[in-house]
Amino acid sequence: MLKICVCVSGGGTNLGAIYDALEAGKIKNAQIVRVISNNAGAYALTRAKDHGTEAVCVSPKNFETREEFNKALLASMKECNPDLVVLAGFLVNIPGEIISTFRNRIINIHPSLIPSFCGPGFYGLKVHEGVLERGVKVTGATVHFVDEGIDTGKIIAQKAVNVEEGDTPKVLQQRVMEQAEWIILPETIKRIADGEIKIG
Ligand code: GAR
Repeated sequence: MLKICVCVSGGGTNLGAIYDALEAGKIKNAQIVRVISNNAGAYALTRAKDHGTEAVCVSPKNFETREEFNKALLASMKECNPDLVVLAGFLVNIPGEIISTFRNRIINIHPSLIPSFCGPGFYGLKVHEGVLERGVKVTGATVHFVDEGIDTGKIIAQKAVNVEEGDTPKVLQQRVMEQAEWIILPETIKRIADGEIKIG
């Protein structure tokens, strides 16, 4: 049984897509053992509780220094003893100690075709704003392993999505989620649970 810890900051629609795939039996031999958010108000925490998962908030607001927050985040991850950590819209810079503790066991979903529109400053809606400003005709999403850089780890899966005339950042974000993110993230977890993709 692959034990998964999912980290989230916001609405958690990607988390929802993982639950859907687990509950439909598309992903077998896997279980979400804990959902961690840096944001106490994240709807993703409610989703987790609704699915009977332990939902934990580790917010930087509750710590005096970034180091203390980083330690608490690592401790919360270790506590649930995961085989895999999934960053599903987790808008926190992952400290080196967490990356080395879970080397090649952390994956992230990013809402563009890396190496375009990624790295510092490109997260959430800002990615789609950048895509529309540049005027590219194709965007998409990427699942990758997390290393010490920002969006620099080994790419595992990508899916392209067309940019349409008249798109707003929000409209494009929704299309990228529906046509790419909610598909390639659960698919990647399935491939890991099936042993097709090696982790660790
Ligand atoms: C998703 O689009 C995800 O790809 C993005 O945040 C959104 C979270 O939505 N992640 C990043 O930008 C990471 N750099 P969700 O909470 O509804 O899953």
